[in-house]
Amino acid sequence: MDTPTGTLSRYKMFIGGEWVESASDQHFESDNPFTGKPWALVPRGNAQDADRAVRAAHRAYTSGDWPKLTASRRGALLRKLADLIGEKAKHLAEIEVRDNGKLIAEMSAQTAYMAQWYYYYGGLADKIEGRVIPADKPDTFNYTRYEPLGVVAAIIPWNSPLLLTAWKLAPALAAGNTVVLKPSEYTPASALEFMKLVEQAGLPPGVVNVVTGFGPEVGMPLVEHPLVAKVAFTGSDRTGTLIYQTAAKGLKRVTMELGGKSPNIVFDDAHLENAVKGVISGIFAATGQTCIAGSRLLVQKTIHDEFVEKLVAFAKTARMGDPMSLDTQVGPVTNPPQFKKILDYIDIAKGEGARAVLGGARAARPECGSGWFVEPTIFTGVKNSMRIAQEEVFGPVLAVIPFEDEEQAVAIGNDVVYGLAAGVWTQNMRRALMMADRLQAGTVWINTYRAVSYLSPFGGYKRSGIGRESGQEMIKDYMQVKSVWISTATEVPNPFVLR
Ligand code: NAI
Ligand code: MG
Repeated sequence: MDTPTGTLSRYKMFIGGEWVESASDQHFESDNPFTGKPWALVPRGNAQDADRAVRAAHRAYTSGDWPKLTASRRGALLRKLADLIGEKAKHLAEIEVRDNGKLIAEMSAQTAYMAQWYYYYGGLADKIEGRVIPADKPDTFNYTRYEPLGVVAAIIPWNSPLLLTAWKLAPALAAGNTVVLKPSEYTPASALEFMKLVEQAGLPPGVVNVVTGFGPEVGMPLVEHPLVAKVAFTGSDRTGTLIYQTAAKGLKRVTMELGGKSPNIVFDDAHLENAVKGVISGIFAATGQTCIAGSRLLVQKTIHDEFVEKLVAFAKTARMGDPMSLDTQVGPVTNPPQFKKILDYIDIAKGEGARAVLGGARAARPECGSGWFVEPTIFTGVKNSMRIAQEEVFGPVLAVIPFEDEEQAVAIGNDVVYGLAAGVWTQNMRRALMMADRLQAGTVWINTYRAVSYLSPFGGYKRSGIGRESGQEMIKDYMQVKSVWISTATEVPNPFVLR
């Protein structure tokens, strides 16, 4: 796909098993965040393309090979895809680094790990069993079967394009649906590269389609499309709310994985060196551009100064620079609006009276070149009512809030509209379990942070989302149950009453 035109790699969309231009024949550029320059030219899809893709997906759902496949065969195809991901993991990682600015150090492991979702749900495909219901009516046999929903629209953000694709695509396909995928306009390339593997794995044409372009132009027409049965979205709560409202008009199902303002809570009985690393990984890994960022550090007053000192000392050593270099630890911000948003929040925090004890500005280090880099930033003197403590920054900016005791840690931890994740650092078992019970978050990490797996449900409380991804149960979010009644009676009884 990437035949160079000038210096730019040129991509096409993938619809109905074919590589196509957009209906308008327009393109947009995707930037490399490290150079701050465009590197790829991508079709700018619109409503016509969305319609074309949904129709292709619907055709593939209702006719052709896909609906004829047994669940075991579908599973085998997903495992084939997983094998191909393993073979091409390095290439996919490089694309993510180029288009997103993610670290090669993280991505080379992440793209390989991503295959696990396809293995896992491939394995699960033929283990979704209905039941025989012990009928309470004579001469009756009643059983249930799980069926797919139809066409799923998967709308993906820019922060972890291929991983978040896997979280939706693997269960949706294992369940027997077909999919139209819309990657973010900031990072469209990896989804298109990935389609080469989908093609190679032998999934029938139209089972997976990719449309590229901007949210309102090609994303919203997918959500509105009458042939779309479900929308699976990851992104901001603002866009999520809009999509949820629109999906409601068509009575479509949704899974929403939205933002967070997760508390990382350090008690004075914690192993402080480990806690420092946990807090760092929570906020500076992936340049803080993760929904699970531990962006509020709640630290017990008795150790506040000592802990902040250790934290600053450690964070100061973070190496910034070329994300393709294996020893870079903090890479660029992915796109200019996000870069501006982070710098704006830094100003807001300063205006609110918070103190930047580290960073607090764009990074002008020579190794950062002309990329969009922000210095790892730590604010102390933060009150939980401040905007810097309540709103998702999505960048390497930590708000430190002191607390007195367990009660206050719980109260502050939960005093936010989000509930995606929480971290707790303590060596006291009673305290750890009590905190895990009381924190309103879809994921609680005790003495660790940022652990996710295909085996374990992930998702949000409160404004952090609806539904879960990963784990066994959630495949049923991509299915519906049918109840089948069979009479074994020789005669039909009184037809004028409910049976
Ligand atoms: P966004 O939520 O607007 O975009 C996510 C996806 O939705 C993209 O594919 C986008 O094209 C699509 N989209 C946007 N508007 C749409 C619409 N009207 N209809 C259908 N699809 C639409 O996120 P964006 O603008 O990239 O980032 C804004 C903020 O969202 C960030 O600053 C960050 O705070 C937050 N964010 C949170 C993420 C998370 O994982 N929780 C991921 C990405 C961004
Ligand atoms: Mg890009």
